[in-house]
Amino acid sequence: MPFEHRTVFRADDENVNVYKLLTAVVVPRPIAWVTTLSAQGTVNLAPHSFYTVACARPPIVQFSSVGRKDTLRNVVATEEFVVNLAYGPLIEAVNNTSAAFANHESEPAHLGITMEPSTVVRPPRVKDSPVSIECTLHSTVELDDSTVVFGSVQVITVADQVLVDGHPDYDRLDPLTRLGKDEWGVRARVRSIRRPRRPEDIRGQL
Ligand SMILES: Cc1cc2nc3c(=O)[nH]c(=O)nc-3n(C[C@H](O)[C@H](O)[C@H](O)COP(=O)(O)O)c2cc1C
Repeated sequence: MPFEHRTVFRADDENVNVYKLLTAVVVPRPIAWVTTLSAQGTVNLAPHSFYTVACARPPIVQFSSVGRKDTLRNVVATEEFVVNLAYGPLIEAVNNTSAAFANHESEPAHLGITMEPSTVVRPPRVKDSPVSIECTLHSTVELDDSTVVFGSVQVITVADQVLVDGHPDYDRLDPLTRLGKDEWGVRARVRSIRRPRRPEDIRGQL
């Protein structure tokens, strides 16, 4: 089907909600469910869908705080955080941790989310999430209203139940993703396709 007609949305047009458009078209986004500790030791937990791998070697992940939130303040103060995988069955819990709790209030304590100690960093991990990525602060980059946080990956823990032949399995991980509006992605269909290393590998298509 050819896409013959297109609507052009200009980022500098004040009638265009660019944030709403971007979050509708940059989809699906993985969700970093980030644990941090405040300087006073309060456990904070909040979802961030502006999240990806930033560097392969050394391993670095990144997420963005839109505005200055508790997560960002805590990361800057304590230089550690944990990314918990937003596991499908925990969708309500993940969503509820996005409510604007005060800095001295702990989301897991208020919402009854069980935490357990991490392996090397002080912020705990979510007990019922199958994966945690323990990070130390690498750096932050301020971009006007948002701040990108880069974390050096120290340890990745994976529940044995989600490993198949020693490797995390997508269906078992059951990761939630963020779409536009109030929509979330659950259990995407998986299709495997061999990646061509050289142009000669693309048989019959050229
Ligand atoms: C699925 C989901 C994804 C979100 N992604 C982000 C994000 O990438 N960056 C951000 O600043 N806020 C994001 N939010 C909103 C924060 O979770 C929310 O502002 C939260 O209260 C921040 O908590 P904190 O103040 O404890 O850090 C998201 C909310 C949801 C439900």
